Amino acid sequence: MIHLFEGSLCFLKRSIVYELIIFAAIFKVLERKIIKTADGSSSLYLPQWDENYHSRHGAIQEAYHVFIRSGLDLFKKGSKLRILEMGFGTGLNCFISFLESQKRDLQIEYVGLEGYPLDVGLIEKLKYPEALKALDFAAFYNDMIASEWDTPVKISEGFELLKKEMMFEKFHGAQNFDLIYFDAFGARVQPELWTETIFSKMYASLRPGGILVTYSAKGSVRRALQAVGFEVERLPGPPGKREMLRGRKI
Ligand SMILES: C[S@@+](CC[C@H](N)C(=O)[O-])C[C@H]1O[C@@H](n2cnc3c(N)ncnc32)[C@H](O)[C@@H]1O
Repeated sequence: MIHLFEGSLCFLKRSIVYELIIFAAIFKVLERKIIKTADGSSSLYLPQWDENYHSRHGAIQEAYHVFIRSGLDLFKKGSKLRILEMGFGTGLNCFISFLESQKRDLQIEYVGLEGYPLDVGLIEKLKYPEALKALDFAAFYNDMIASEWDTPVKISEGFELLKKEMMFEKFHGAQNFDLIYFDAFGARVQPELWTETIFSKMYASLRPGGILVTYSAKGSVRRALQAVGFEVERLPGPPGKREMLRGRKI
């Protein structure tokens, strides 16, 4: 009886692994189109999924609103902090965090998780340093997007980056992050990433008092965050969205 149970558990685990591998292979070959968003900044669009890497109402505006003003701004000038980004993508959030660290003397260790790294040539076409009027810092951005995966890199004196090529599902944190940028594709296309299973990993990876910010305001997402222990606030959303969510580890 026990053998039968173990056998079916093993089969189930294997079929989940196969499903993940097939999904990863399909996702890698999906077409990515460059689009212009409403604030003039570019982003990427997945036509087969009808899904965007950033808000169509403004990629840069969204990044500042959700991740910087509702997240990074909670940390005082001169702070030392560790940021975890779920979905490194184009590196836009990482670059903006770097620019802010320069203005406010922050010391940041930034870990960006990504299951499907983008082609560097494609990212360059988005011209984020130009769109952010930060051409003087373009070399730092180039270092970020071209840096090797799974190798920590010192981008500047106060900014260290580790890009981890890894599926969210495989991540296990250990109470050493202060801030999480949760930036997966929407729950419509990736419902499995907006679940208690993933959020409990996020909770475990934060220090007590740590913060998670996300552009999503869905009721099911808020409930899943609360169920794993987060204290959740609904905040005004970026242009085009009424609300967004911020969770605090208590
Ligand atoms: C909304 S985009 C993030 C945009 C990114 N933060 C930026 O500034 O460009 C979601 C990202 O999550 C990645 N992703 C989606 N599913 C994933 C998974 N299961 N594991 C790891 N990465 C995943 C995608 O490849 C994509 O880069």
